[in-house]
Amino acid sequence: MIRVGFIGLGGMGFHQAKSFAKAAGCQVAAGADPSPQMRARFVETFPDAQVYDSPEALIAQAKVDAMVIAVPTGHHQPVASAVLAAQIPVLLEKPMARTVAQCQRLIDDAEKANTLLMVAHCRRFDAYWKSWGDYVTAGKLGTPVLWRDVRAGYAPGSWFMDEELGGGPLIDGAVHNYDFANWIFGEPESILSSSIKMDPNVSAIDTGSAIIRYKAGHQLLLSWSWSVKGTTLHDILGPDGFIQFGTAGLSVPDDEKGRYQYCTFTDRDGQQTLIKAPAQPDMYVNQAEHFLACVRGEAICESPGTQAIKAVAVAEAILKAGPEGKTQAISW
Ligand SMILES: NC(=O)c1ccc[n+]([C@@H]2O[C@H](COP(=O)([O-])OP(=O)(O)OC[C@H]3O[C@@H](n4cnc5c(N)ncnc54)[C@H](O)[C@@H]3O)[C@@H](O)[C@H]2O)c1
Repeated sequence: MIRVGFIGLGGMGFHQAKSFAKAAGCQVAAGADPSPQMRARFVETFPDAQVYDSPEALIAQAKVDAMVIAVPTGHHQPVASAVLAAQIPVLLEKPMARTVAQCQRLIDDAEKANTLLMVAHCRRFDAYWKSWGDYVTAGKLGTPVLWRDVRAGYAPGSWFMDEELGGGPLIDGAVHNYDFANWIFGEPESILSSSIKMDPNVSAIDTGSAIIRYKAGHQLLLSWSWSVKGTTLHDILGPDGFIQFGTAGLSVPDDEKGRYQYCTFTDRDGQQTLIKAPAQPDMYVNQAEHFLACVRGEAICESPGTQAIKAVAVAEAILKAGPEGKTQAISW
């Protein structure tokens, strides 16, 4: 039985604890959060868990074999460094940290402690995204590939729009896309990007558009805002066909409804094929199972810090481009 501790018991930390509770061979053993409300909610669901008001108290007093960290991004590095110094394996929420320099510090600390540092890039464990990613990597769209992702909505909470703590949508939300694109497209090379400020009252860049270029010739086009509402575009284009989310009007058997998620591939001749992926277990439970297997020494980590740093490097280059717009090399 692996005893898992949770640092940060807000939206994501609590969700992670519930996902770990569904995974085999683990116990939700402890939690830490400065907020009494968050601690009370955690204990209500996990009455046998110990709770603490700081990460330091949890690290010093609780007996845990592994730790999940879900605090605001600006705190990731100091909190994760303290856990790694105690040689406790870490699953750290995405983005790995607020800056590339902080990510590198974490990689160094994990190496020094000879301890696992996995970053919770949950899309790597999402059967749905993986189903279309596999189509792309199998070459069914041809090459090069252009992935377009356009979204707008309001920020999930206040610290997310603080420059230091969250950094806004172009790092906090879009880092899922950067990491997944790095995974299926390979090394990112440069960005062309420009931002606009829609809300003058937040310190982070709230709206921006970028083209990320990959060494293999693929591109990710991304335009996100967390200060306005708008429509969503999400498709993946190649010379031999394209993929869109959903069934594109094709019918699915009644007994599959709710059990699968679908994308649709359309080839050059307009022929459509459904790509289906099981909805359960969801990506967070798959991610928990994988982390626990890594802690047991039964798996090689599929989302290590050494890869997650590259997604933060993409974000950092985009944020540095600012409103004037710039082409910039990506480095880490
Ligand atoms: N993978 C995903 O799908 C996903 C979704 C949402 C958030 N996240 C990430 O999870 C992390 C947390 O986000 P959230 O939505 O849970 O935020 P949140 O604001 O809901 O919760 C953060 C919690 O951390 C606590 N906290 C703050 N500083 C702390 C410290 N030093 N030590 C311990 N606890 C501290 C706060 O009291 C709060 O309860 C962020 O990095 C965010 O980007 C990931």
